[in-house]
Amino acid sequence: MSKKDEPKKLGKNGVDMGDRGVYDKRNTLNDLTGKEWVYFTNSVWITGYSPTAKENVGLKYRKIHPSPKPPALMKDIIEFFTKSDGKILDPFCGVGGTLLGAAMAGGDRQAVGIELEPKFIEAYQKVCETENMQLMTMINDDSNNMLQHPEVSETVFDLVIADPPYSDMMSKERTGQRKKLYNDSSPMPYTEESVDLGNMSQEDFFPALRNIMQHCFSRLKNKGYMVVFCKDFQPQPGKPNLLHADIINELCKIDGLVYRGMRIWHDQAMSLFPFGYPYSFVMNQIHQYVLIFRKEQ
Ligand SMILES: C[S@@+](CC[C@H](N)C(=O)[O-])C[C@H]1O[C@@H](n2cnc3c(N)ncnc32)[C@H](O)[C@@H]1O
Repeated sequence: MSKKDEPKKLGKNGVDMGDRGVYDKRNTLNDLTGKEWVYFTNSVWITGYSPTAKENVGLKYRKIHPSPKPPALMKDIIEFFTKSDGKILDPFCGVGGTLLGAAMAGGDRQAVGIELEPKFIEAYQKVCETENMQLMTMINDDSNNMLQHPEVSETVFDLVIADPPYSDMMSKERTGQRKKLYNDSSPMPYTEESVDLGNMSQEDFFPALRNIMQHCFSRLKNKGYMVVFCKDFQPQPGKPNLLHADIINELCKIDGLVYRGMRIWHDQAMSLFPFGYPYSFVMNQIHQYVLIFRKEQ
């Protein structure tokens, strides 16, 4: 008898889910089996969402945004950190990667997103309409005002996903993948607004990010998770620019928010560029950090 055909050991809490493995009825975090759980805990996460992949739903409309996240990636995060009735908050929702991921994860999941720029919200709505996806709530405002909206202030969220702009990264000239995708190297800030975190100096950026994440934290259930995306800047002489470490340290100033670890996400659809050739090493940074925090009070 091959290992695959052996009867599964279910114990008193196990439920046989066929090829998915065994689900433990004591699982309070998600609806996954042990096998699926283990797969997600791998610290290196390699995906291959080409621009035309069907998982990259509605990219045709979402492409107006300089850095849209693949909805299928967000679906995997949502399925790990919520049960099928989970509530998800995204304070920087752009063209709705998280909201589309929540619709793909299905069940009775509901997501609320906040975004400064109306044209990104319109692009998200167009994707939902043309792809027949469940339309989630998107609020057009500065996330500093999130508690003024009943959709946020009257909901207890199971999960917060944040993909913030990083300081003035977007207002710099585009290189590599971003230049290739948009066939243009001119700077492309998300908005012209001073409250846009992408238009701030590094000095102003850290407390501004913490302030918004503090609001999210106040609406997160105890033992709920907060997932934050980030990418390091290129190191400069005298300035290592380990942004992911700086973000972890900044967010740990929120009393009750505990850093639990990270996943390194690499999308194989990204191309490499000969930066620095033939004179010096310049990193091709094709990974992003997915930083994971938990509310523990
Ligand atoms: C990296 S993008 C997020 C992309 C998103 N994950 C997606 O899939 O489209 C960050 C977004 O945050 C928005 N943003 C920046 N500052 C903001 C603020 N204070 N309040 C709300 N949105 C803000 C920007 O306009 C931008 O669209």
